[in-house]
Amino acid sequence: MGTEEEEEEIVCLDESFFINDNYQLTKFTFGSEVIELLCLQSASTDFDLTGQLVWPGAMLLNDYLSKNADLLKGCSVIELGSGVGITGILCSRFCRQVVLTDHNEEVLKILKKNVELHSSSENYNCCAGLAVEKLEWGHSEEICRILENYSGGFDLILGADICFQQSSVPLLFDTVEKLLRVRGRGQCKFILAYVSRAKIMDSMVVNDAKLHGLQINDVVGTRRIVGNLEGVIFEVTL
Ligand SMILES: C[S@@+](CC[C@H](N)C(=O)[O-])C[C@H]1O[C@@H](n2cnc3c(N)ncnc32)[C@H](O)[C@@H]1O
Repeated sequence: MGTEEEEEEIVCLDESFFINDNYQLTKFTFGSEVIELLCLQSASTDFDLTGQLVWPGAMLLNDYLSKNADLLKGCSVIELGSGVGITGILCSRFCRQVVLTDHNEEVLKILKKNVELHSSSENYNCCAGLAVEKLEWGHSEEICRILENYSGGFDLILGADICFQQSSVPLLFDTVEKLLRVRGRGQCKFILAYVSRAKIMDSMVVNDAKLHGLQINDVVGTRRIVGNLEGVIFEVTL
């Protein structure tokens, strides 16, 4: 038993005390497409809460997709590590079906809010059924559930700025390989907007894709500076 003074010093804080959910409605423009969504303006110090704001990789991918919207027309798409959902929401303007996924519960809350915001918007002129699902890379049960619910698989798998933690790269490519194999060679591809922050990650991404028997190539003309970092769009196929 502690003394009365010791007990007075124990401060109980639940986790909401540390979470910044002061989201602001923010406007983003990609060619003729304008998207307004709720996001933070700066990242949390918690490594796992990176998904509360829009990352440079999403700007790179959305610019690319808005210029190449033919790629999306009538497609069924799954996005990995969606964060606040800016890429999936853009896709919903052109696609037949878009499934946005993330693993973090706090991020899933703001992702669902942005999907609702978008779906109820007066200017909402999209074709896709937008859905949000929990998906942790490498989590067999969650992957199986997605594969059961969307048994026809997907035409496209998308990822923006999702390679930043070394331990999760093999799990990401496990998941990508499983999703690609549902349709088979030539029927599905993974489009990854990669932003280079560490040389070790640059080689890890390419090597891990190859270790999974996948082909990984730059999309010609997409290597460019985003923010002050080098980014590129990779196309990954079986
Ligand atoms: C840097 S953020 C990028 C978010 C968004 N794609 C963008 O570019 O704005 C990385 C996202 O991947 C998610 N993520 C990280 N590790 C994951 C994992 N192991 N499984 C599923 N999602 C993960 C995070 O929750 C976060 O939303």
